[in-house]
This record gives sequence, C-alpha cells and structure tokens, in this order.
Amino acid sequence: MPENTTYDLVVIGAGPGGYVAAIRAAQLGLRTACVEKEYLGGTCLNVGCIPSKALLDSSERYASVKDGLGKHGINVTGVTLDLGAMMSRKGEVVKSLTSGVGMLFKKNKVDHVKGTGRIASPTSVEVTPADGGAMQSISTKRILIATGSAPIQIPSLPFDGRNILSSTEALALTEVPKKLIIVGAGYIGVEMGSVWNRLGSEVLLIEFLDRALPNMDKEMATQLQRQLEKQGLKFKFNAAAQSAKAEGGRLKLSWKSKDGSESGVEECDKIMVAVGRRPVTEGLGLKEAGVNVDSKGFVPVDAHTFQTNVPGIYAIGDVIGGVMLAHKAEEEGIAAVELMAGKPGHVDYHTVPGVVYTHPELAQVGYTEEDAIKAGHQIKIGKFPFLANGRAKGMDETAGLVKIIADARTDRVLGVHILGAHASDMIAEAVVAMEFKATAEDIARSNHAHPTLPEAIKEAAMAVDKRPIHI
Ligand code: FAD
Ligand code: NAI
Repeated sequence: MPENTTYDLVVIGAGPGGYVAAIRAAQLGLRTACVEKEYLGGTCLNVGCIPSKALLDSSERYASVKDGLGKHGINVTGVTLDLGAMMSRKGEVVKSLTSGVGMLFKKNKVDHVKGTGRIASPTSVEVTPADGGAMQSISTKRILIATGSAPIQIPSLPFDGRNILSSTEALALTEVPKKLIIVGAGYIGVEMGSVWNRLGSEVLLIEFLDRALPNMDKEMATQLQRQLEKQGLKFKFNAAAQSAKAEGGRLKLSWKSKDGSESGVEECDKIMVAVGRRPVTEGLGLKEAGVNVDSKGFVPVDAHTFQTNVPGIYAIGDVIGGVMLAHKAEEEGIAAVELMAGKPGHVDYHTVPGVVYTHPELAQVGYTEEDAIKAGHQIKIGKFPFLANGRAKGMDETAGLVKIIADARTDRVLGVHILGAHASDMIAEAVVAMEFKATAEDIARSNHAHPTLPEAIKEAAMAVDKRPIHI
C-alpha cells in the first residue's frame, strides 16, 4: 500500500461480495483497497461453495462408479475410496481459485491489504496486520463493509472442531465417520449429508421444522427429501438436538420433539451443526462509528444505495442479511460501487436463484407456490416430469420435474422450480426469462434443442396452458 494515499473506496472483506465489488470499483476508476484478515475469496471460495461442490462432484462420481454404471452395461469391480486424494483435489481447486483472486486484484490495481480492518471513522480504516506488525491507518472517501457470516453455534452443542463440527470441519474430515448426525436439514445439511452418505456414512438429519429446506417450494423440497431417503439419508423432523456427550469412544446426542412429547438418545461418531449463519461484525468498530445493527446483528442498509445510517459507510453481502448466497453478495457489490461511481445499479431480489447441489439438484427462482399465494396472486401451475424427457431417459436421470408458477390473469412467470440433474445450469434460462418479464407462453414458444433436459422447461410452460405434448 503506497504511503499518503487517500483511497476512493476501502472494502473490508474479500469474499465474493467484497472482492467482486473491489474489482468493479477499480474498473470504474475508483482507487480501491481491499482489507482481508484471513483468505481471499472469503467463505465461498475457501470453506463454502467451492470446496463443498468439489466434494459433491467427487462423491457423486464415486457413488456412480460404485453402484450406478451397471445399467449402462459397464461392470466395475474393486472400486475403492482414497479420501486423502479426494481432499487434496478439493484443496487444489480452492487454491487455484483463491490465487486467481489475487491475480485479478493485481490486474485491476486493487491494493490487497492483509489484516483485520476496523472502522476508525467514516474516512479511516485501521488495519491490524495478520503477521503481528504495526497497525496501519488507511485514509479513504468511502468504506464498504463485506465481512460476511459465520456458522451459528447452539449453546448446548458448542463447536469443538473434533466431535461437534461446523461445515468447515465437515469439509475436511480425514476419515469417513461410521455415523454422522447433522443438526439442521437446510442447504448445508442436505449437501454435506449427501457427500458423507455417498462416501459410506450412515447419516441422520435432525430438523426443528416439519420439513427439509424450509426456503424452497414445499412440494419440490418434499420430492427431493424422498430422493435423498432412497439414497439412504434419514430425517427426524419436529425435533431439536439438546446436548451431546462422549462415552466409550462414541458420541451420545440427546434430542427432544418440538412439543416435548418424545425424546431419545442417538449414538454417532460425529455431529455437524448447520442451523444457519450469523453476520460477522465483531471488532469492526461499528458501535464507535455510529453504524446501526439490528437485533440479530445484521447491518441495515438503504435498499437502493447500500449505504448504512452513516454517510460514506456502505455494506453488502451476508452481513446485511437476506438470502445468504454468493451470487446475491456479488450483485450487491457491483450495484453498490456502480452507484458510488455515478452509474445506475440495482439488484432484483425476485430473480436471485437458489440451488441445492444434491442429486438430483433442486433449483428455484422467484416465488414458491406458497409465497405466490401469500403475495395475493391467483396462480396457474404447469409441471413436467423428467421421466417423460427423452434426454433424461438416455442419461438415466429421470428423477424430478419442472414446475412453473404463472399469474392466472397475466400469464407472467412468477416462479420456476427444477428438481433434476443439472438443475443448477438449467435455472439460468428461467432467471433470464423472469428478468425480461416473460410469460409462460414466451417460454413455451421458445425453441429448445432436442433432445435436451431444458425441453422439460418448455413442456412445463406449455403445461401452464394445459397443452404439454409428451404427457
Ligand atoms: P464471506 O464470503 O463470508 O466473506 C467475508 C470475508 O470478510 C471473509 O474472507 C472474512 O475473513 C473477511 N473479514 C471479516 N471480518 C473482517 C475484518 N474485520 N477485516 C478484514 N476482513 C474481514 N452460496 C452460494 O451461492 N452457492 C453455494 O453453493 C454455497 N455453498 C455454501 C456452502 C457452505 C458450506 C457454506 C458455509 C456457504 C455456502 N454458500 C453458498 C454461501 C456463501 O458462501 C456466502 O453467501 C458468501 O460467501 C457470502 O459472501 P460475502 O462476501 O458476503 O462474505
Ligand atoms: P439453512 O438456513 O439453510 O438451514 C438451517 C436449518 O436448520 C433450517 O432448516 C432450520 O429450520 C434448522 N434449524 C434451526 N435451528 C435448529 C435447531 N436448533 N435444531 C434443528 N434444526 C434447526 O442454513 P445452513 O444449512 O446452515 O446454511 C447457511 C446458509 O449458507 C444457507 O442459508 C445458504 O444461504 C448458504 N448455503 C448455500 C448453499 C447453496 O447455495 N447451495 C449451500 C450451503 C449453504
């Protein structure tokens, strides 16, 4: 960092929100520094999206080679797991992407400041270097808080890194646990549960609510749950984990039903707690700087400009709440700095897709059926199963369906839900359609190549008007 520089923008945190914002700000001509205390790429690249997807892909290949190729006439015997090699590959994927962020910073002339940032005033950030060196003070015209989130800890089940794990440790186990209990059947629960189930663990998910994935469309999440149960995952709903103790080399986890009528003890080898994430703001100096936080610790911002209650201090990403997704953080980062640079910037939260990377994958954009009704829409629904899609049959990927929710009066697409192989890739079509305010008829009349999985989207759109061809 050059001496006596006054930056146009100092970003605190180099996760997908912060590093993308810093690069875009530099592209727009703002002199930009990004302060990061731990690792470039934040949660997503280091202990979130990327390593979890690397393990999901590796474990899916393992399960498929072990049990899934016979139908294709391919007989494989003697398949063994080298967990160490699988973890090393994951590490290499992470390393190449995080070092890529460093290169992008250099290319775009973003100054990377290594250390923990604290807001001393709206125009000054103090940085305590990670290597224990002297504190630096950085002068700036604006500050963008992008400090992200961390796992929520249940007080009676404190993380110990050995027996009671957060997702971070569950991504780096050196042995396959014989039995893994996961507290929370949300995104992390079903994804990490899938990884370890495929690699040989017996997996039980204990969930407080009466269903898995409470933020996804209920019908679709229930169908996914059934698929996961077929793969061997077990679910216990309406139950809360109480406490755990180690005994005779194993763990004993006590649980209670929500209404208190039932209780029990489950033995296992590891426990992973994945009950959501909380904002990270400790040590940031928010109170002293007069920046408000809400009752859960999130930093409230103006919905358009991303400015906090203190002029010149902005915030984006997980730390401001809403859905905690990397692409949402990125969009907010871009919109915030474009507005700072005098350009138009906007995030359409209705078209932020959500994807659960299980097998099959579950992807959604827009309203769930329940939310569309709650929002006062009269709706019509079109569905099409992958069982009736030629490509899905050829691939032996017939599980799942596409469900399109449209406004009954205007035909405007309100929500698209895809449960199936490659749903994560297919949802992009629905996002673009919804960005352009498409009707179901627009999708139904768009030519889709044959034979492809997205033909199921076209057919579901035709089914909205009760005229699918292949069912
Ligand atoms: P973060 O990525 O949390 O980054 C914040 C950064 O700020 C961190 O690097 C931190 O070290 C740094 N920091 C904090 N305080 C300071 C300070 N005082 N000074 C300097 N630096 C500081 N999302 C998806 O969209 N798709 C997925 O597939 C997906 N998978 C996930 C899997 C797991 C296991 C987990 C845990 C999360 C996953 N997520 C996924 C969520 C995603 O990781 C987050 O939504 C995203 O990382 C949020 O980005 P962010 O930039 O707001 O914060
Ligand atoms: P989550 O919010 O997805 O799920 C948490 C689950 O735990 C909920 O079903 C909730 O009802 C349950 N729960 C809460 N308290 C409980 C308790 N005491 N006992 C039992 N169950 C309890 O949170 P999760 O899975 O921790 O993930 C955090 C966030 O990270 C997600 O919300 C998501 O935004 C992001 N993420 C995204 C992924 C993706 O995009 N594919 C993958 C992984 C994480």
